[in-house]
Amino acid sequence: MTNTPRKLGLARNTSNYGDRDFALYLRKTFAKSMGYSQAMLDRPVVGIADTASDYNNCHRTIPELVEAVKRGVLAAGGLPLAFPTISICEPSLSPCSMHYRNLMALDTETMLANQPMDAAVLIGGCDKTVPAQLMAAISSGTPSVMLVTGPMLAQAFEGERLSACTDCRRYWARYRAGEVSEEKINTLEGKLATTAGTCGVMGTASTMACLAATLGFMPLDAASAPAVHADRLRIAEEAGAQAVRLIHKPVTPLSLMSQGNLDNAVRVLLAIGGSTNAIVHLAAIAGRAGLSLDLKRLDALSEETPVLVDLKPTGEGYMEDFHSAGGMQALLWELRDLLDLGALDLDGVTLGERIGDGDHYVNRKIVRARGEPVSPVGGLVALHGSLAPEGAILKRSAATPALFETEARCMVFDGLEDLANRIDDPDLDVTPQDILVLKNVGPRSPAGMPEAGYLPIPKKLARQGVKDMVRMSDCRMSGTAFGTIVLHIAPEASVGGPLALVQTGDRIRLSVKERRLDLLVEESVLAERRAAWREAPAPKRGWDRLVHEQVTQAPLGADLRFLTASGE
Ligand code: FES
Ligand code: MG
Repeated sequence: MTNTPRKLGLARNTSNYGDRDFALYLRKTFAKSMGYSQAMLDRPVVGIADTASDYNNCHRTIPELVEAVKRGVLAAGGLPLAFPTISICEPSLSPCSMHYRNLMALDTETMLANQPMDAAVLIGGCDKTVPAQLMAAISSGTPSVMLVTGPMLAQAFEGERLSACTDCRRYWARYRAGEVSEEKINTLEGKLATTAGTCGVMGTASTMACLAATLGFMPLDAASAPAVHADRLRIAEEAGAQAVRLIHKPVTPLSLMSQGNLDNAVRVLLAIGGSTNAIVHLAAIAGRAGLSLDLKRLDALSEETPVLVDLKPTGEGYMEDFHSAGGMQALLWELRDLLDLGALDLDGVTLGERIGDGDHYVNRKIVRARGEPVSPVGGLVALHGSLAPEGAILKRSAATPALFETEARCMVFDGLEDLANRIDDPDLDVTPQDILVLKNVGPRSPAGMPEAGYLPIPKKLARQGVKDMVRMSDCRMSGTAFGTIVLHIAPEASVGGPLALVQTGDRIRLSVKERRLDLLVEESVLAERRAAWREAPAPKRGWDRLVHEQVTQAPLGADLRFLTASGE
């Protein structure tokens, strides 16, 4: 018997058993058991990656989003079939969510590539989910529309507005400093995140949503429409319709990943004062497409890209303010001379056309004009030097300028446990001028590159009113945090990078002006320490072992080597 010709929908061959026609017959038989009419089964299929999970508060609205996507698919002539993948909620996983981003990418890629579907809608939202799904889409080659759950709303409380999670951190720091009572911090626990949706500030979730829209994987207003707004459901319905359009005019996710589009994404990341995590995610997404996110390029773009969006943690507003202020369209219009306006989205529309002709409402308090930026230069800088030969990142827009040029002795913590054990010790030999260093928390460490870069100010200093100190590590920081914090130091300590050799009392020099991060210790001393350094034992089995064997350093996206475009 000859091979069945390649067809759309459930008539597509994905399994074999050595008799393709029988495999297809079997699948159709079981599809019939779901009660679909033949007319439905003849339609092309849009797979819907459903990441609802009782563990994921940020994805609580996904059941109704799936329903809305299905409406859109059905109305446009497709058959929608939702399927589960793993879901990653930022505060819920051990050792940290980042450790599983690549697992979600691998799960999603595998299901996209190997189930019968002609296009997909990927529903994500919480920090790691959107990068995981974009990585999966690019690697699987399945034409895919991105849909995010959308940000939560801020809540009025005692005369101010609150939302996760910049305000969580701000209040926790004040509680640690003794400025907020136990009773109040407990009350606040129920006031900081009060609606469905992702964190309401320009944290990682919102940043990744803005980047996915910039890259063309979803419409511009889909980046910021609140989770509970009726528009969010209309956006979901349109995502379903767009996926059906993609079936008839397939555009691969890879084809959106031009250098121009990648630069556009970096520009937007800078202009929104976006999360440092997005640099790692964007590097991983680029790596799936055979591109790289060069840190020196990021730095050059940062010099000529102003911060225009005034949202927490860099500024004042919340995502709902950005949305009603004009959102991505207003922002991109302001940046238009810096962007590759010819970059295409999934519908083949250029960025220039998507931005329009400037005839849109803008609230200038939130989306600033080029002449009145929040900051004339971008929020992020890349540092290099003897302590970070492959680079490190500083979010200068959330840092204290007075600390930009610092040379000081350092206090080193060997890992998270050491940090937890000693940071609040009243006898800790530390002054406000010292630099706090945390090591063994990079992508290959057992800690899995957590968001621990926002080291707490030692309690005894916090109580003296110290609000910021220079802190550095090989891990990440929440996109909602603030402080003079150097992150993603590469190579990390766990692979024996220079960070592994730093000891308490060493002097370190940070120069934001020169983009340098240097360890001021004699080479002969470092050579002795290097000879004595020992790698931690490798995990014996499972995902931890695969990560240990395959994970790349932060500048390459902390992806697994065998999943990147080059596979190396
Ligand atoms: Fe999910 Fe912040 S915890 S977006
Ligand atoms: Mg976050």
